[in-house]
Amino acid sequence: MATIIKPTAGNIQLAKEHLSNSILVAVPTETVYGLAANALDVEAVLQIFKIKGRPLIDPLIVHVSSLEQAKLYCHMNPQAIALAQKYWPGPLTMVLPKKDNIPGVVTANLDSVAIRCPGNRVFRNLLESLPFPLAAPSANPFGYISPTKAIHVSESLGDKIDLILDDDDSEIGIESTIIDLRNGHQPAILRPGPLTQKAIEAEFNLKLTTPQQVVESKSAPSPGLLKSHYSPSKPLDIVKLTEIEAMITKDTLKESAFILNKRPVKLSQSVQNIFWLSESGEMEEIAKNLYALLRNVDKMDYKRIIVETIKAESVGIALMDRLTRASER
Ligand code: TXA
Ligand code: MG
Repeated sequence: MATIIKPTAGNIQLAKEHLSNSILVAVPTETVYGLAANALDVEAVLQIFKIKGRPLIDPLIVHVSSLEQAKLYCHMNPQAIALAQKYWPGPLTMVLPKKDNIPGVVTANLDSVAIRCPGNRVFRNLLESLPFPLAAPSANPFGYISPTKAIHVSESLGDKIDLILDDDDSEIGIESTIIDLRNGHQPAILRPGPLTQKAIEAEFNLKLTTPQQVVESKSAPSPGLLKSHYSPSKPLDIVKLTEIEAMITKDTLKESAFILNKRPVKLSQSVQNIFWLSESGEMEEIAKNLYALLRNVDKMDYKRIIVETIKAESVGIALMDRLTRASER
């Protein structure tokens, strides 16, 4: 069973030793917890796929401690450098032409690599102490909800890994924004995330190709665009608040769990099958709590999960993207 360790200097050293010896370590990031291995070590990277039950055709993100380190593993263009300077360290992953030193198993033999310089201080300390970058997908079984707490990792992968480096709750709570920047003049959003399309477009005065357009053009197949993903084990539906109220009234047997954006004022607080993602509807708070609440509710005895529609603005776009995938069946 995995040991959950606090991020003391000694424990970061322990994580470093594990990673240097081809042993995986679950690590905190500001987005979600990751399952990390030396990205240059083929055997260790293969373990990631095995432990997650992830198909080898789904490439991994390579995490680095700086823009300088990123340049060792991919070919940067001026637009990528500008984005890195603006948003790294942070929840931005860029897909760029890879260099030969990144093994094919990391990138599913694509000639591109997804690269990110994370913001979480503990993860950065670890990366800075290592002479190699870390490949790390979200630390969940393939297809399930991403972890935002060390205990989530322990619950679903604890019997398969040794160490989980614990840095409390992931600050953001949803996976990084992925942008395909292979063509710096026509960047495309592959996965919406905390860093919004609108923010990037405003910053650089350019239009990004949307995930929808990417799918239609079939130009950049990314398994991140898989329809069914991020799913709880119970069926999940997304419903508008006005309709949820009627559903709650009808659900006399309390078979459904209802997850609202904010604490309800109208509903009786004693209704046990009603949950909320934030006190007052603040989007960052909703993002931070979504996965943890979905995991909790999924463990309870409800037959289905009904989530209130989240407003498709700022990080809400990414949240609706994940919920929509979770609702596919
Ligand atoms: O926030 C995050 O990005 C977290 C933390 C741990 O960093 N990581 C994460 O990794 O969400 P993962 O493996 O769960 O999702 C990475 C996505 C996958 O959907 C994969 O298909 C896509 O990135 N991806 C990786 N390399 C790619 C490439 N070369 N081209 C296109 N998509 C790629
Ligand atoms: Mg994932």
